[in-house]
Amino acid sequence: MATATQTGLAIPRKKLTSYVGFANLPNQVHRHTTRRGFTFTVMVVGETGLGKSTLINTLFNTNLVPSGEERLASRESVQTVGIDTISADIEENEVRLRLNIIDTPGFGDFVNNESAWDPILQTIEARFDSYLEQENRLNRSKIVDNRVHALLYFIQPTGHALKALDLEFLARVHKHVNVIPVIAKSDTVDPQNLQRYKQRILQDLAFHNIQTAQLPISPYDDEESIAEIEEVQSKIPFAIVGSNDLIKTPDGRTVRGRAYPWGVVEVDNEHQSDFVKLRQMLIRTNMEDLRELTENVYEQYRTQKLLSLGITQDDSVFSQSNPGSQQAEARALHEAKLAKMEHEMKLVFQRKVAEKEAKLKQSEEELYARHREMRNALDQQRQELEERKRRIQNSLR
Ligand code: GTP
Ligand code: MG
Repeated sequence: MATATQTGLAIPRKKLTSYVGFANLPNQVHRHTTRRGFTFTVMVVGETGLGKSTLINTLFNTNLVPSGEERLASRESVQTVGIDTISADIEENEVRLRLNIIDTPGFGDFVNNESAWDPILQTIEARFDSYLEQENRLNRSKIVDNRVHALLYFIQPTGHALKALDLEFLARVHKHVNVIPVIAKSDTVDPQNLQRYKQRILQDLAFHNIQTAQLPISPYDDEESIAEIEEVQSKIPFAIVGSNDLIKTPDGRTVRGRAYPWGVVEVDNEHQSDFVKLRQMLIRTNMEDLRELTENVYEQYRTQKLLSLGITQDDSVFSQSNPGSQQAEARALHEAKLAKMEHEMKLVFQRKVAEKEAKLKQSEEELYARHREMRNALDQQRQELEERKRRIQNSLR
């Protein structure tokens, strides 16, 4: 059936004057999802030693991912990009999060990097396929969402431009995943050059038509939320510094940071890096938005996949023809509805009149009956009186 928005009919917006209760829906959703828990999957890609493991550990303030040295010991002679998945159930204020981190060691390490993206693309697609397969099962109540919700791409802090490997890789994956580019180890870039470097990166990406994650803004967002989203978005590519080391600052505070002979770089200080904004985008404010964006990307993948499997659909069953005919269809529906209502009202009216008439007739008959009764009673009284009168006259004679 054509909906109001499809047919261009305006949906009235109304404010209720009394409390009905559906304003509590967000709380219900909150309770429902909290009970079920959340799943979030982040993939980290970038050349060796750019601080991928360190950043993940900094984001979740734990030691989730082993350092490069620990891992290298176990994969000395490997010639392809590896896919290491680490899952952790973390809980904060009774909210459970199943966090999947996909690390991609070896990216950019080989002389021939042509196929550096193959295992990565395959992983992203395999996770879409697994979701699709679960959707097609008979029982869909326990779908596990292991799709990749964000891909953190680590850019070398060279201060110049993106490398061919960066561009080639991103061009291949950006349509399948939310790409969030980050400038690794940004404490090693001259702060004066940093803004220029960011601009250069954005230009390179735009020139090659590479999209990065674009947070959605809804018409229901208030000004404050919109400003916050725009602020986060404006920091892409995030210039980050990672470390879980606690350092004493010259003014006596203990902070997470990196110590240098010339001073301390604080991880959680917004003036010194974009780490806080990245955490906001990934975890604190926009995790759900990233999930929503993933749903959109998946939808396209799913359509392509089903088409490639030879599954087609008869579009004529959906009235998505031209807007003119949709409007005519809506008008005809509306008129038919009005005519039906008029007919029903007529029937109701006729029924009510008939009922009223029957009632009136009944009361009229009752009235006649009473009248007859009263007249009979009077007649009887008169006869009795006349009888008495006759008897008295007879006795007087
Ligand atoms: P692989 O797993 O080998 O690919 O490396 P990785 O990208 O996971 O890097 P890892 O986190 O192991 O860090 C490599 C080195 O860089 C370590 O010595 C870190 O201390 C250092 N490092 C990590 N993040 C930063 C940063 O933000 N700034 C600076 N200056 N160094 C960092
Ligand atoms: Mg690592």
